[in-house]
Amino acid sequence: MKWPQKGRFVTEPGQALPGFIVFEGIDGAGTTTQTRLLVDRLTDAGVTAHLTNEPTNRPIGLLAREILAGTVPAPPDSVAHVFAADRADHVAGSDGILSLLESGTTVVCDRYKYSSLAYQGLDAGLELVSLLNDRFPDPELLIFVDLPAEVGEERLAQRDRRDIYENMSFQERVRRRYTEILEELPPWVTLVTVDGTRPAQEVSEKIWEAVESTSILRA
Ligand code: TYD
Repeated sequence: MKWPQKGRFVTEPGQALPGFIVFEGIDGAGTTTQTRLLVDRLTDAGVTAHLTNEPTNRPIGLLAREILAGTVPAPPDSVAHVFAADRADHVAGSDGILSLLESGTTVVCDRYKYSSLAYQGLDAGLELVSLLNDRFPDPELLIFVDLPAEVGEERLAQRDRRDIYENMSFQERVRRRYTEILEELPPWVTLVTVDGTRPAQEVSEKIWEAVESTSILRA
């Protein structure tokens, strides 16, 4: 593996980043629970694993969270830029994804560029969002926790706050958009879709089977 230079994002054509695992899904799909369970299980198996998420808790990620909460208004194409700027910092900034992977750590990431393609792609347009995100390297394994929007809605109804995207009609469109994006993945990304309506432990078991079939446990 030839690692991208620090501060750059481009991998060799036709390559994914080994040891990089991404989770995606609509709001309420359970990616946060599943990323935690996977990192615990990897750690128990003796793998050095790091859990991270987007938006990050870095300065630009915090701005993204304000936008999501509706406290900072921003037009759709600015929002797309903010998520992409947060991602640039997350991937190539200090203690970012690339430096962790380079040191041999497995990185499990709750949401990544596919969230931008699915969410911002709907209101800022796929062309702009692809332009901003295509340069970010692909993960080795992409786990899509699939959930009907109605079930997501039932889960979100139990939370006391909602972000700007958390309404059922938008989430239905997000789910459809994910399906389209995931059909177009390059062949070097392994996609595993799990049924997010199943109990968390059962979903976690399916994810573990997928991880076992990668090089991550053999590294
Ligand atoms: P989520 O990951 O569910 O975190 P939490 O529930 O802890 O706040 O929510 C993040 C939201 O951000 C989710 O609605 C998807 C959205 N998002 C985007 O719209 N674009 C992106 O690029 C990313 C990373 C997230």
